[in-house]
Amino acid sequence: MKYLFVLGRNAILSKAEVFSYFEKEENKILNSEENGNGLLVELTHPLPLNSIRFFGGVVAIGEVISEVNIKELEKDLDKINLYSGTENKLNYALWSFSENFDEFQDYLKARFKKEKLKATLKHLTRNVDLQSGGKLEIPSSKLIDEEFFIFDGKGKTFFGKITQNPDYSKMEERDMEKPVRRESLAISPRLSKILINLSKVKKDETLIDPFCGIGVLLSEALLLGIKVIGIDKDKDAINGAKQNLEWFKFKKENYKLLNSDSTKVGGEKGSAIATEPDLGKTLKKMPTKNEAKKTLESFENLIIGVINNFKGNISGRIVFSSPYIRIGKERLKCNIEKILEKTGYELKYEIPEYRENQFVGRVIYVLEKRVKK
Ligand SMILES: C[S@@+](CC[C@H](N)C(=O)[O-])C[C@H]1O[C@@H](n2cnc3c(N)ncnc32)[C@H](O)[C@@H]1O
Repeated sequence: MKYLFVLGRNAILSKAEVFSYFEKEENKILNSEENGNGLLVELTHPLPLNSIRFFGGVVAIGEVISEVNIKELEKDLDKINLYSGTENKLNYALWSFSENFDEFQDYLKARFKKEKLKATLKHLTRNVDLQSGGKLEIPSSKLIDEEFFIFDGKGKTFFGKITQNPDYSKMEERDMEKPVRRESLAISPRLSKILINLSKVKKDETLIDPFCGIGVLLSEALLLGIKVIGIDKDKDAINGAKQNLEWFKFKKENYKLLNSDSTKVGGEKGSAIATEPDLGKTLKKMPTKNEAKKTLESFENLIIGVINNFKGNISGRIVFSSPYIRIGKERLKCNIEKILEKTGYELKYEIPEYRENQFVGRVIYVLEKRVKK
């Protein structure tokens, strides 16, 4: 069972998300290969329909139909049914993680002509700016009947169909329509999902967000069937979270909200932590190096305080974002060695997540309990 995951603007982060997700689902990734933003994985079990809704950083999911030999395209593909619709008209797209786009394009054209279909290749005209530079081309039109893909692996080319696309409108709708919004501080639903997946928390387990604000990450977790505890020292934020979670009509027994200081609150137990703490002041201009260092130091002390307060009650991963502050051409991040040393955790992932024009981006950390040797 081979699938293509098309990774979004931060491919490293999305890949870590995909791997963490399958680790916790106990659907082992038997093999994987990458080509640009394409990640081809062989899974132990079939992937249920609409699995894409679980991911924050995946742009599309496809199923491999055939491994093909470029020199014998016709022989390999003629036996496959490519179009399952009933109309004589077909708009199709071809995602390419391959050097053989032209060969496939020519094959599909000839094939549909032979089948007497009025087929039009729709080019991928929407560009996603990648964090690593460059662009990922994705389809812009909804009027596409079939999306095919090609992927060059090591010594093999794979052909398949995109079968799952994300429903961004639903995600945006709930983000815009919830009663309490706090744009300057809020984390996006997509990044929330990524942090939740990185934490490897499972359905019916409990996730703690010790800096929950108005509860964006909490609601994304609840939507996935995860129980949550949200803590914020700001009374207005907790009231906002309460209103938002009530608006979603989540069952009250699945969440708990506390207006407390997370460095001090006691007794809350959970499987994992996923959170976006205070990243410092929202900056309108570039800070000085000294200002940045102060922000980072107070961040380190805050997160150390929170981890040490919770670690006896958390069995799994701790995932948090941290400030990544631009000073001229470089960016400063927190001292993770100090955090690890003072908390007894070890580092699983450290992944930058930022846009060029942001003064304060993020570095996302995933920590695991140190295994005693
Ligand atoms: C960046 S915001 C979190 C945003 C949140 N993810 C959302 O979508 O609304 C950080 C939050 O941490 C809270 N906070 C800061 N220090 C805290 C502490 N020691 N204990 C609990 N909450 C704290 C702030 O009140 C703020 O609401």
